[in-house]
Amino acid sequence: MSSRGLILAIESSCDETAAAIVERGSRTLASVVASQIPTHARYGGVVPELASREHLRAVVPVVRAALSDAGIGFADLDALAVTSGPGLAGALLVGISYAKALSLARQIPLVAVNHLEGHIHAVLLNEREVALAAGQPDPADEPALALVVSGGHTHLYLAQPAHGVGQGLWTYKLVGRTLDDAAGEAYDKVAKLLGLGYPGGPWIDSLARFGNSRAVPFAFSQIKTKVHLEGKAPRTKAARTAPIAKLDPRLLFSFSGIKTAVLRYVELNGLRAEAEARTPKTLADPKPPQTREAALELCPQPVLDLVASFQHAVVGDLMKKTFAAAEALGAKRVLVTGGVAANRELRARLTAEAQRRGIRAAFPTMALSTDNAAMIGAAAWPRFLAGEFAAGDLSADPALALGV
Ligand code: KG4
Ligand code: ZN
Repeated sequence: MSSRGLILAIESSCDETAAAIVERGSRTLASVVASQIPTHARYGGVVPELASREHLRAVVPVVRAALSDAGIGFADLDALAVTSGPGLAGALLVGISYAKALSLARQIPLVAVNHLEGHIHAVLLNEREVALAAGQPDPADEPALALVVSGGHTHLYLAQPAHGVGQGLWTYKLVGRTLDDAAGEAYDKVAKLLGLGYPGGPWIDSLARFGNSRAVPFAFSQIKTKVHLEGKAPRTKAARTAPIAKLDPRLLFSFSGIKTAVLRYVELNGLRAEAEARTPKTLADPKPPQTREAALELCPQPVLDLVASFQHAVVGDLMKKTFAAAEALGAKRVLVTGGVAANRELRARLTAEAQRRGIRAAFPTMALSTDNAAMIGAAAWPRFLAGEFAAGDLSADPALALGV
């Protein structure tokens, strides 16, 4: 190993092609993300075939940009890291094939990383970077409850240091999950039916500030034990997990009902035609409005109120189950990560409630909340130190689970 401990990480599980150079799992020298949002926006969601094609186009330039930003060459690398799942099969395969070819050609060891573990490491990387910059030692490994909340997942894990303090390897136990849609998926679907831009999270996040969150009283009903005791598989494309029957029903999420409730509200209140008129405008200007005037120009007050109420309900439900899990497990530390962790209301309300309960809540930076490769490089570092390298037949595992 060179003295620097440099990892080139590649991420291509969904609609971002990303490469990063991370030093010793704790310092990001470069992080480049090529977003495919403009490609998928007109369809209101990720089109898997288009995603694979865009990854093929972007992977080489993105890796070159990361090396150049970090001021290094392939010869300086100690390892490569790549996301092997969960995600879209064709999209994952682009990153994996590229990383395997590079590993063979340049004789650089390759570490396979679970995308969900990557999201958790986004928070740890952030904590380590802040500590390093302040001249403080690495924050000690301390068990944590992790909420991974993104477009594909709404999963709660108990994360624990694997081999005692200092090594940075963690083990994960699934303690809760969604039975159907992920929270980010609900954001995307609600935004789509309201004629807002894609992905929906940032739009709803921006518009919600200008609405009355008490206007529409959306409620999440308690998950009925019958559903999971019958051993039904969850209706999601997310990672395989242990049977739902083994999980505490208080820690199960379900986001498909609120989407239907929003649809019903839109139809009952005659907001449908306006939603249809909005789509061409949002396609022309893909950035969500930032001022009340701009928001009002796009959406009438009842739509802003609906959006605010939807977000208030989703954030409330994420908090309720996260704190129920923290209480049940005695967790004093909560890590919130994944695309929805970028949400301003979730950050503010969850942080305030954690303080009230004497729990430390940590989020990644905004840039590290959504998909990126720096988190993959950070998750790869302890595996690299432990000599856990990918086998030659590494392939994409679209339903790769995290932990047990
Ligand atoms: O982690 P990510 O980039 O990709 C997946 O692994 O899914 O998460 C993307 C998801 C999308 O559903 C997007 O709408 C949501 O994260 N998202 C947000 C915000 N920014 C992104 N949801 C709520 N508020 C946001 N500010
Ligand atoms: Zn993700």
